[in-house]
Amino acid sequence: MKQDMIVILDLGSTKNTVLARAIRDLGVYSEIYPHDITLEELNALPNVKGIILNGGENRVVDGIAIDAAPEIYTANFPILAIDHPKATSGEKIANWSQSSLKKFIFDTCKAEANWSMKNFIADQVELLRQQIGKEKVLLALSGGVDSSVVAALLIRAIGDQLTCVHVNHGLMRKGESESVIEVFKNQLNANLIYVDATDRFLGKLANVSDPEQKRKIIGAEFINVFAEEAKKLDGIKFLGQGTIYPDIIESGTKTAKVVKSHHNVGGLPEDLNFDLVEPLKMLFKDEVRACGVELGLPAEMVYRQPFPGPGLGVRCLGAITRERLEAVRESDAILREEFHIAGLDKKVWQYFTIVPDFKSVGVKDNARCFEYPVILRAINTVDAMTASIEELPWPVLQKITKRILEEVPNVNRVCYDLSPKPCATIEWE
Ligand code: XMP
Repeated sequence: MKQDMIVILDLGSTKNTVLARAIRDLGVYSEIYPHDITLEELNALPNVKGIILNGGENRVVDGIAIDAAPEIYTANFPILAIDHPKATSGEKIANWSQSSLKKFIFDTCKAEANWSMKNFIADQVELLRQQIGKEKVLLALSGGVDSSVVAALLIRAIGDQLTCVHVNHGLMRKGESESVIEVFKNQLNANLIYVDATDRFLGKLANVSDPEQKRKIIGAEFINVFAEEAKKLDGIKFLGQGTIYPDIIESGTKTAKVVKSHHNVGGLPEDLNFDLVEPLKMLFKDEVRACGVELGLPAEMVYRQPFPGPGLGVRCLGAITRERLEAVRESDAILREEFHIAGLDKKVWQYFTIVPDFKSVGVKDNARCFEYPVILRAINTVDAMTASIEELPWPVLQKITKRILEEVPNVNRVCYDLSPKPCATIEWE
């Protein structure tokens, strides 16, 4: 392994992630572990240069203050105790600052600032080859940032031992499946199975108007299609997953509360009994993007805006019809193109269009028309828990409106949604 590591032991702090980020920003790799890690487990971790005992508001559990195992205090690691763990050895501080961290990491631990994406990739390639050997790996490749970076990393490590399955549920954005095929099949020579399941998904979704029901059908059908493809393949031992560090941290540590359960391709039938390969599980989102860039993925793929699993299905409101789905897809493509031209794609966190399931009266070519509206949405947020509305330049709004009205069939009106979250959500369904 090429990288030195500082281990953070979670003694009830809510700031473990912030601390790990701060250490990585100093160029030193850092991982968070539960307070009751054993010395044996600690010794098995590569290149540990020092330990930070990170105490905090959740330290007292059931009336007892949790602590690290006594043998960890007496092992030969440099220790920094933050916020009154009762460490008898090592340094103690009430609160960390960048200078106190630097002093501990570089002066006391003598760690080297050698955390870089190049080193991370070199280490992961080595680890993946050890873990996988000559076995085969299967990956659901949606084209999202995480699954794309996992695919690129696995291709680098094991080449054609990887098989990717891209399921087009018919709810992808314009050009999205095509770009997955172009990048992975044509440029990176991946074993890519492309499944066009549009008719199947739209068939199941016909006449279903309840948003939760729609989401459930899309999720369940995705698993069905993926499992069917997996069963056609012989001798697959591993399933690759785009799990990233926040997914693991948000699943709850021994002291932190569960924010959301760890997502994965959950719900796969039990006869598909795979071992997991999760090479990004120690990376934060911006590090995943940096990894993708280092692996040579195109910027549009690595920096793309978030896109919900159920795709355009939750933006074609009510019961989905092909006519309205095309209106969502075409208007979304125009919005994205114009945002790119205006440089707004770098400024706005998420932007898309919605087509509701009602019509309004208009006039086209001197005749009455009765057609759908398109609603524009452009929001900024840090964590998607709250969101504010982007103040779009009027000429950009006018150009988008003109193009949608001229180019998208069955549409006679364009509206801009000004609602922040709360009380609206970002998506409409
Ligand atoms: P809401 O509508 O809840 O959206 O304010 C918050 C963020 O989550 C995205 N979103 C999803 N992402 N699967 C996903 O992977 C989903 O089912 C899903 N639903 C919403 C949404 O696009 C926004 O960024």
